[in-house]
Amino acid sequence: MTTVTARPRAGRDPMRLPVPRRVRLGLLVVHIVATAAWIGLDVALAVLVFVPMLDASWTAVCHQVLPLLFWPLLTTALLSLVSGTALGLVTRWGLVRHWWVAVKLVMNLLLVTLIVVLLGPGLADAGRHGRALAAGLPDVGEVPRLFMPPSVSITLLVLATVLSVWKPRGRVRKT
Ligand code: HEM
Repeated sequence: MTTVTARPRAGRDPMRLPVPRRVRLGLLVVHIVATAAWIGLDVALAVLVFVPMLDASWTAVCHQVLPLLFWPLLTTALLSLVSGTALGLVTRWGLVRHWWVAVKLVMNLLLVTLIVVLLGPGLADAGRHGRALAAGLPDVGEVPRLFMPPSVSITLLVLATVLSVWKPRGRVRKT
């Protein structure tokens, strides 16, 4: 009698979680839509921050709208992080196997932290400032300066998109 020993199929990657192709494609669609929406929201943030710098008559309106962007920004950033992490686990790219994925992971974590720690309170301040201006209060205090968040975020997200499309060679460890 011949004994058949179970052997891994040739070419099968033991580090990759096996999921059906349609699940991988679904994750990729969610990932691309989430990151595209995130960039769009950052552009809206930039418009609301820079327009009052050019024309002060827009300050009250723009600053009142700014806090509305917090939850959409945080949701799309987290969705990008979660879908990207899942893609790393179910594709040959791995989570920290290739530099381009590892760098995106660090950038995404950094941006989520900045949204919660710095941007959130800044947007809330801007909202208070806008409401005070609209109510015609005489002393509305310091005008929040929020030009850094959209500039940094758009730059990093464009860099992440270039890395994703280019997928440069280079592994974190040679295994
Ligand atoms: C920082 C924001 C991010 C942006 C702007 C971004 C953008 C993109 C884009 C545009 C693609 C599609 C590329 C293509 O199909 O040619 C992609 C794919 C991918 N992303 Fe992201 N991503 C981000 C974050 C992440 C994170 C945090 C991870 C993992 C930890 C990740 C892992 C992946 C992987 C593995 C793919 C390839 C999927 C495949 O080819 O099947 N991404 N990303």
